[in-house]
Amino acid sequence: MNRTLNRHGLAAGAALLLTATMAMALTPAEEGRRVYLRENCYGCHGGRAGGGMGPNLRGEADDVSEAVHQGEDEGMPAYPKMSSLDIQYLQAYFRSIRTSTEPTFTHWWEAVPTR
Ligand code: HEC
Repeated sequence: MNRTLNRHGLAAGAALLLTATMAMALTPAEEGRRVYLRENCYGCHGGRAGGGMGPNLRGEADDVSEAVHQGEDEGMPAYPKMSSLDIQYLQAYFRSIRTSTEPTFTHWWEAVPTR
């Protein structure tokens, strides 16, 4: 009985460690891509932030915090609860677009997105 419990505890611990390690393996740009997809920014700014009904955000690094937290007059909604860490990730993502490190996956809910 004890041995079974121990084995299970060990397996659970190993799985947790693996998950944590994998989550930490994401780059800031990848985290930013996840935020971008999770918050549906692409609906207005395009799948790779090239613009749509909202402006092109490629290379955007200034004023992201202000635009996201407060919204803008011409149709940009406010996301007052967006964390400053998520804002930094978004900036890293916008800077990565059209570089070799641009993440292009489409599934934000995967711990380690694959496509
Ligand atoms: C409902 C459509 C819509 C959604 C959803 C949306 N935006 Fe916007 N966004 C806009 C529009 C339209 C503007 C231009 C507003 C203006 O010029 O007044 C804008 C402006 C911006 C700007 C400022 C760009 C600049 O050059 O001044 C940033 C940064 C931005 N959006 C980021 C985001 C992020 C990040 C998300 C997701 C969290 C997001 N937007 C979601 C429509 C949207």
